[in-house]
Amino acid sequence: MLDQLHDYRRIALEELAVVADAATLEAWYRAHLAPSGKATGWKRNIGKLPVAERKGFGQSVNEVTAELEKAFQLHKRRIDLLELEKRILAEATDVTLPARGVARGGHHPVTLALREVIGVFEQMGFVVYESPHVELDELNFELLNMPPDHPARDMQDTFYVDDDVVLRTHTSSGQVRAMRQLCPGPVRVILPGLCYRHENITPRSEIQFHQIEGLLVGPEVRLSDLKGVLLKFARALFGPNQAIRMRGSYFPFTEPSCEVDIRCTLCGGNGCRVCKQSGWLELLGAGLVHPVVLRNGGYDPTQVRGIAFGMGIERLVLLRHGIDDIRLIFQNDLRFLRQFA
Ligand code: PHE
Repeated sequence: MLDQLHDYRRIALEELAVVADAATLEAWYRAHLAPSGKATGWKRNIGKLPVAERKGFGQSVNEVTAELEKAFQLHKRRIDLLELEKRILAEATDVTLPARGVARGGHHPVTLALREVIGVFEQMGFVVYESPHVELDELNFELLNMPPDHPARDMQDTFYVDDDVVLRTHTSSGQVRAMRQLCPGPVRVILPGLCYRHENITPRSEIQFHQIEGLLVGPEVRLSDLKGVLLKFARALFGPNQAIRMRGSYFPFTEPSCEVDIRCTLCGGNGCRVCKQSGWLELLGAGLVHPVVLRNGGYDPTQVRGIAFGMGIERLVLLRHGIDDIRLIFQNDLRFLRQFA
């Protein structure tokens, strides 16, 4: 019996010696020292021995149990240290790793273009004038010489809020507001912002887009000012040799009216796919402010004249970056936008 006890002691200590983690140690404890464990089991064997042997064997069992208990406590301290070391290593910061990049935002290409264009006109003395996106029909159309049923309204498919209120179809809707506020003084404003049209969404048209309108009113204003301002603008944006041309056109709120083209920025005027072999790209609509509009703004058309022009900002972005689909601008796909950051 004593031999068996010592065999057991040796095996138990050997098992303990190879325990390397807290979970196995816990299992070892349950197998040996817990109330249902083997060491405790030996105590129950004491009663089976002849009375004379009980005392001596009981002592041996107690010694073995105490030794296992002590060995367990010692080993537990080692395992605790090992576990701590493992945790520290797992949580440690490797200061030699390269730093994680900081995610930086960027401006939308339309915002960038707006700011640049506004900057160019501010240099020429224009100030920004903001007007509502949800606008009276009166200001978007009627006071611009487009009474109800005027055929020119068909040029701009309109979102109606109700009979008298529309989402502005162009920034020209701010012309009369600006004139009425500044009259009888001179007007030198640009009106930037979103416009809305009830269009099919295609690579060439969107239901929302940005325009910048320019309006200059004063006693000495004439058509050559329009040409000068726009040439200066085109050269600021596209380089000092940029050419422009004016073509006769029609808008109800200007007379005469024109469309202004820039020499194709891709082929330099030789003709390419983008300018459809014409060598020119349409940039904006413009003209002398119609006398009716001047009068609606509070001015006497025999005393002052005005020039006005309006251009699409998205078109500018597409042209400058050689993009052929306006829808990309509003999809806000980060893969597209990041290229401008
Ligand atoms: N409002 C016109 C458009 O959206 C552009 C324009 C503005 C034309 C000012 C003449 C003068 O097409």
